[in-house]
Amino acid sequence: MGLVSAKEMLTKAKAGKYAVGQFNINNLEWTKAILLTAQELNSPVILGVSEGAGKYMGGYKTVVGMVKGLIEEQNITVPVALHLDHGSFEGAKKCINAGFSSVMFDGSHYPIDENVAKTTELVNACNVLGISIEAEVGAIGGEEDGVVGNGECADPAECKRIADLGVTMLAAGIGNIHGKYPENWPGLSFETLDAVQAQTGDMPLVLHGGTGIPADMIKKAISLGVAKINVNTECQLSFAEATRKYIEEGKDLQGKGFDPRKLLAPGFEAIKATVKEKMELFGSVGKA
Ligand code: 13P
Repeated sequence: MGLVSAKEMLTKAKAGKYAVGQFNINNLEWTKAILLTAQELNSPVILGVSEGAGKYMGGYKTVVGMVKGLIEEQNITVPVALHLDHGSFEGAKKCINAGFSSVMFDGSHYPIDENVAKTTELVNACNVLGISIEAEVGAIGGEEDGVVGNGECADPAECKRIADLGVTMLAAGIGNIHGKYPENWPGLSFETLDAVQAQTGDMPLVLHGGTGIPADMIKKAISLGVAKINVNTECQLSFAEATRKYIEEGKDLQGKGFDPRKLLAPGFEAIKATVKEKMELFGSVGKA
């Protein structure tokens, strides 16, 4: 099937009251683990690439080549969108040109008029090419790739203004945070989510900071219009823990050092398990 825009999978998810997972990728092993799990579970999937991860993997064109190659050679037939995560204006343009099928423009740190102007320009470019586009209103808390947000609740009227520009999906801050949630976290603001959905109708809403949100809150968010949930930190933690254990066992230390393929195998399996758990929770299994 190749890469697809996220529009159709998210429209179906919103109508069917489930969410498609966006799992961020950092290397070949992560990408392969996520794609194979989506195929095994017959689930649509979105691969997220932050600007930092894109740079790490050798540039956006390298990422496009790797993902397209895996889809073909691993016989992946479920819908896969390759999506820029928290893109800058320039980063979004680069990904559009490199062959991504979806981009996020995070203009939440600009004054609303500037966010509107920049989002409009990118919506026009994406529409011509059939690429899906995510916009953000109300910064998501925590730190991601050096971008620090304060965790605001979005203004529903501003959400409507951005949604009306023709974006495919909208990330609205509802007290969510990237990374681990602090002990005293008050939880998601369902009041805000409800008000945002009332203003934006059928627009698929995006929940960032999917790591560590209790299952009941995830389910409630989906019932209130969330159709895409982003997960990054949880995959990082499971990958790191599995790799640490493998090194501690010292199995490969036979004078030659660790075989990289064996060293990364437990992390690969750990990511598969994490992705499976999330897809089951989000309800996307069997929805491809
Ligand atoms: P977590 O790292 O908290 O899972 O958030 C991921 C995310 O929102 C990516 O945009």
